Amino acid sequence: MNFLKGLFFVAITCAAYSCNEVKSQKTKVVENLALEKAEKQLSLQLKVAEKAERIPRTVNSKGEIHWTHNNFDWTEGFFPGSCWYLYEYTKDDKWKNAAEKFQSLFENHKYLTTNHDLGFVFNCSFGNGYRLTGNKEYVNVLTTAGDSLLSRYNPVVGCIQSWDVVNGWQSKKNWMFPVIIDNMMNLELLFELTRLTGDKKYEEVAITHANTTLKNHFRPNNSSYHVLDYDPETGAVRSKQTAQGFADESSWARGQAWGLYGYTVCYRYTKDIRYLEQANKIAKFIMKYEGLPDDGIPYWDYNAPNVPNEPRDVSAAAITASALIELDGYTSESYLPFIDKVLNTLATAKYTAELGKNHNFILMHSVGSIPHNNEIDVPLNYADYYYLEALMRYKKYKLE
Ligand code: GLY
Repeated sequence: MNFLKGLFFVAITCAAYSCNEVKSQKTKVVENLALEKAEKQLSLQLKVAEKAERIPRTVNSKGEIHWTHNNFDWTEGFFPGSCWYLYEYTKDDKWKNAAEKFQSLFENHKYLTTNHDLGFVFNCSFGNGYRLTGNKEYVNVLTTAGDSLLSRYNPVVGCIQSWDVVNGWQSKKNWMFPVIIDNMMNLELLFELTRLTGDKKYEEVAITHANTTLKNHFRPNNSSYHVLDYDPETGAVRSKQTAQGFADESSWARGQAWGLYGYTVCYRYTKDIRYLEQANKIAKFIMKYEGLPDDGIPYWDYNAPNVPNEPRDVSAAAITASALIELDGYTSESYLPFIDKVLNTLATAKYTAELGKNHNFILMHSVGSIPHNNEIDVPLNYADYYYLEALMRYKKYKLE
């Protein structure tokens, strides 16, 4: 009897301890008032952006705010996307008006067929707008952008081409049909369009692209290559390389995060178990990588040569946290301790800027592209966007 009582006591104590532990982990993010702080910071950024009528992207090497290019910029959807998340959080029309105003600056880019980033650009902006307002006009915009994106699909390869190879640095690589792991992020727009329009052509392309990428882009340890170049006539893989990572065989941190997020989204729409398995495998690669710092914020490349003297990439951490919150809901794996750790770390003064500093971006210490000597240890509008998304997802998933 005493033995049983003892066991009962131990069980109750452990349950209470783990409950308190989980509670304290959860409340930390709330106590840090991460969303409130983020809203205050972006309110300041909004004032500057409204005056300039430009979209903030990052801070340049002179320490000045750097705006997105007016003719097209793959990051232009993120600032209005952040405004939509803040509208969802505050219900304040100020954020809805801001989102509408800033996304209208690039609406005519829906016709562009020269890059694969339309999924990112339009789903984060007009896509969130439709989710929150039901404005049917936005479906028209999304459909045009989706049709432009489909024009880059090659059925022989089974992929959407990422970059054109006629201009810029990409023209010096001898590529024919480059496909980057980041391209998995453009599939959400296509899945969503089939749901919105009933036309299966969008999700058919998304599924084929995801399957081709699953077959070719991953190594046996479930990390991914950055760039695969295909022969557009035969569909054969010509080379496996990097553009933004340290080396062809290294694991570029943001690329791993894009793959994780992309396959989680594919599972959301298809319930195909292979996508769930791949997302879980990528999650394990990221979380168990021996070079991952204890605070969960990765260096810009898992194989960067001078660790620990290498820049972190906060954008990769924010994308990963957001994806893992969704993935946690689909699987018996428990990602919450890792998510708690990453979000609580991002909310500290090490990564979250003081109000009014950092050109009013929320987070510090991201990396755009070290091989291009571009955007090293800077704020980035997409780090802020995925951080806000993660905080909103966390709030709904765990705190409400
Ligand atoms: N898609 C570009 C990047 O992740 O830098």
